[in-house]
Amino acid sequence: RFAGQVTLDGPSGTGKSSVARAAATRLGAAYLDTGAMYRAATVAVLDAGVDPEDAEAVARVVAAARIEVGTTAATERVEVDGTDVAERIRGAEVTRNVSAVSAVPAVRRQLVDQQRDLVAAADAVVVEGRDIGTVVLPGATVKIYLTAAPEARAQRRAAQLGLTTPEEVAALAADLRRRDECDSSRADSPLRPAADAVVVDSTDLDREAVVDRVVDLALAAA
Ligand code: C5P
Repeated sequence: RFAGQVTLDGPSGTGKSSVARAAATRLGAAYLDTGAMYRAATVAVLDAGVDPEDAEAVARVVAAARIEVGTTAATERVEVDGTDVAERIRGAEVTRNVSAVSAVPAVRRQLVDQQRDLVAAADAVVVEGRDIGTVVLPGATVKIYLTAAPEARAQRRAAQLGLTTPEEVAALAADLRRRDECDSSRADSPLRPAADAVVVDSTDLDREAVVDRVVDLALAAA
């Protein structure tokens, strides 16, 4: 049985979440979605009526918020101060503002500490995010960086959301580009592959093939 830490980083729309969940299930491992934590922090910021670009105010609100996420692949549990926000964190307003919130260093320090505590409690875990292999768990058993061509990512996201018109797909592609640009260019923990990460390009692979590759890499490294 697998024991260790698998990190799965990469930009939005690569199928990271569904791959991470499926791999965790097959490995009998816990699963941590760190993006859900930054999204939950964004809910707290929006509900406080604070400007997401106001780093000081954002840090203050998030420091006072109790953010809780589950660590099993089967069910998603995301709460802010005891309120279930699992659906809300996937909404457009949160998605639009999450990159600004997650660029605030104090927010990152707080959530990274929490992520390390959650990971320490599991003997086998798959953790997905942007900076897991580079910052959160530099000593992980196996690090994977999942990429895909921008057009493939926009198409996939559109299919997920049930959007079909060329205008809708183009708007989505623009939003993905903006978020990736923001995540890759921020000063604190930018999105990039760790030096020792295996880069997997999912443009021409179906989900099962990517899951197989992740599971094989994990078992080979353990
Ligand atoms: O993965 P997901 O799309 O849910 O992540 C939402 C946002 O949270 C990302 O665009 C990024 O700004 C932020 N994030 C981050 N570091 C992580 C995970 C997510 O900055 N480890």
